[in-house]
Amino acid sequence: MCDDTRALSAVCGMSRSVMVPLADTHVHLLAGLDDGPPTPDVALAMCRLLVAEGVRHATALAHQNPGYPDNTADRLRAAAAALAVQLAEQKIPLSVHPTGEIMLTPATLDEWRAGRLLSVGDHRQWLLVEMPHDKFVDVLPLAEALKPEGVGLIVAHAERYGPLLDDPALTAQWIAAGCRIQVTARALADPWEPGQDEALERWAKCGFIHLLGSDGHGIDRRRPVLAAGVARLAKWVGRAQARRIAGEWGRAVLEGEPFTVPPCPPRRGWFTRLFGG
Ligand SMILES: [Fe+2]
Repeated sequence: MCDDTRALSAVCGMSRSVMVPLADTHVHLLAGLDDGPPTPDVALAMCRLLVAEGVRHATALAHQNPGYPDNTADRLRAAAAALAVQLAEQKIPLSVHPTGEIMLTPATLDEWRAGRLLSVGDHRQWLLVEMPHDKFVDVLPLAEALKPEGVGLIVAHAERYGPLLDDPALTAQWIAAGCRIQVTARALADPWEPGQDEALERWAKCGFIHLLGSDGHGIDRRRPVLAAGVARLAKWVGRAQARRIAGEWGRAVLEGEPFTVPPCPPRRGWFTRLFGG
């Protein structure tokens, strides 16, 4: 058993054989389509690493942004289907779900309606969105426009966005508008920016972390690891809730099942608890 799997067993308080399977809701597995795995062999090695950690459900994800104009929804679907065949041939027990990591632009709504963007798991329920580099975008207008279509936004690697991470009231507003917050497991386990640890703990204790992703890109760098982040999350919210976030909710999103989270605590209650006054 690898170190990460031992850590996960400790988190779950049970043997590996009966652990709740984890779901990686953000991992680049489509070889050669973006800055993720360069070859199918690297993609399969990443899948084996995920399985060794206890992951059984994962995005087969690639960027959809102006830097990768050839990454149409159909191209991502075909690549994910080919990966699923390879996993079956190699008897690697990981179910993969075609997904686009969509960079927000003024054209995002039109591109979605034109069928050029791929939803999470291709279920037309959630779009996994990231901000343009070095910009912070108010997602509420897009969230409101998509709501009548039954589509919500998942904010990818949300810990990157200081204006959101440092503002619990704004985070609560986005969640109330139907957005869901995805955090990178490595940021939980090994925060790399000053204040990130405290801010993530605050988010966790407010119930603002809904999904985990490894944002894995390869084997030599940005490896797809989740377990250490799950262990850290469990210290803040308890084992049961950490399992829910890292397993049940992620699987539900990837498989297109209903996904509801508890409403945000009343504003007065958590503001008073966190900031006094
Ligand atoms: Fe990513």
